[in-house]
Amino acid sequence: MPHFLSDLGRYRKYLSRRSTIDGRDILVFDWLFQKSSQRLLDEYFRKAKYSCIASDSDEYGHSKRWLLELAPRAVATEFFSEVDDVIRSITTDRPLELRRIHANFNTYGEVHYPHIDGLNVVVVLYAANIKWSPACHGETFFFKNEEPYEVVSPLPGRLIVFDGGITHRGSGPSRDCWEPRMTVAFKYVGPRMSKSRRRAPKRSS
Ligand SMILES: [Fe+2]
Repeated sequence: MPHFLSDLGRYRKYLSRRSTIDGRDILVFDWLFQKSSQRLLDEYFRKAKYSCIASDSDEYGHSKRWLLELAPRAVATEFFSEVDDVIRSITTDRPLELRRIHANFNTYGEVHYPHIDGLNVVVVLYAANIKWSPACHGETFFFKNEEPYEVVSPLPGRLIVFDGGITHRGSGPSRDCWEPRMTVAFKYVGPRMSKSRRRAPKRSS
């Protein structure tokens, strides 16, 4: 299970919400990025070329969504290195390996299924739309006992950091929303657990 610093160090001032489900953390950070950077990211991910290959798990593999796989070396660029610095500064797990970065382009009508990303995984979700309204929906739902327990909106520039062992799902934009819901997901893997503590999670994208 990933562990986060209780005081979050220098990133504490950006923390909007912190909650826990069965001992696993969800942290929401706002105001980390300049508006000019958010605008550039919105433009980039709006025009990027996606493939319709993402699914929440093997069980729901029939339901595909648009995804852009980014090389982990993208972390060398400014925005990605900022996110990387946040995560390495607030986690206590060493070594923490960045396994994957991908962008999601969600549209109205998609179905998102509850899943976990891994028991030893830190997930970071950057909300890449420069504008978003409550009527657009697109929230991320976190489950406890098979019911939504925490709900987080994709407010512009927001960073949602959570333990990949929490059952969660995204959601597409509402019918009234003419915008795609764009997010950038980072998947970090913590130090290996011993076999006796490891359980097989459902695979997810
Ligand atoms: Fe996920």
